[in-house]
Amino acid sequence: MSAALRTSPHVVVERRGAVAVLRLDRPDKKNALTSAMYAAIADAWAAAEADDTVAVHLWLGLPGAFTAGNDLEDFLLAARTGRLSGEVLEFLRRLATLDKPLVVGVDGLAIGVGTTALFHADWVVASDRSLFKTPFVDLGLVPEAASSLLGPRLMGPATAFELLGLGTGFDAARAERAGFVNHVTAAEAVEATALATAEALAAKPRGALAASRRLLRDAPGYTTADVLARIEAEADEFAARLASDEAKAAFAAFFARKK
Ligand code: COA
Repeated sequence: MSAALRTSPHVVVERRGAVAVLRLDRPDKKNALTSAMYAAIADAWAAAEADDTVAVHLWLGLPGAFTAGNDLEDFLLAARTGRLSGEVLEFLRRLATLDKPLVVGVDGLAIGVGTTALFHADWVVASDRSLFKTPFVDLGLVPEAASSLLGPRLMGPATAFELLGLGTGFDAARAERAGFVNHVTAAEAVEATALATAEALAAKPRGALAASRRLLRDAPGYTTADVLARIEAEADEFAARLASDEAKAAFAAFFARKK
């Protein structure tokens, strides 16, 4: 690989032994994800995948804000141009095809893709003050990140509709019951718990871990190819919805709310 890694001041990467730690760091916007941030994450994960000294990915946000989801200014731009940014899709494809385990620590807001990305993670710890919410329909949009496939499988169609269709916010206990959070703890303990689990995974035999992970993920209808196909199908619908009057009105309402 000769191309330079795309970086963002809002995506901070560091190493803790065999754990590649990626932190979202955009406090003034509650870690809302811009195209540049998606690109930086995709490249950081690609680099960690290619690095034999990395065994596990760890993904963290900030105290109180894992992420407020996709940057709505970017959505507004996409609504005008009629195209979803390529970086979002690149990020989603990379997320769905990581060969090394992904551990996530969530404290606080996990909105939109901040929730649906977790369906791809191997182990998630959340603070007891976390909020998981996907207001896709209220924004004139549809579920993404293959959540329309993985959500019903994880939690059953009724609960998945409540989260992804009705847009009900789930607290950490409900997210744990729904099956996309493994462990709930106090906010102060999230990062240490996440790191300890990532380190425990990193200490395991790599070949056996990788093979086990492949077996666990490879179910009929839910193979990596199925997940990737659903990401594309959702993205087509998402792009059409972004250009709708419903979505434009929802974005305008968000940015007008403080005036
Ligand atoms: N995109 C762009 N900016 C965002 C954002 C987003 N998704 N979420 C928050 N921000 C910005 C706000 O505009 C505000 O910026 P400002 O200080 O320049 O006005 C700043 O982050 C802080 O947000 P604020 O709304 O004041 O914080 P809050 O604690 O009252 O509410 C949220 C936090 C996340 C509940 C609220 O900001 C929100 O609903 N954001 C939109 C979430 C969303 O719909 N994401 C897309 C999902 S598909």
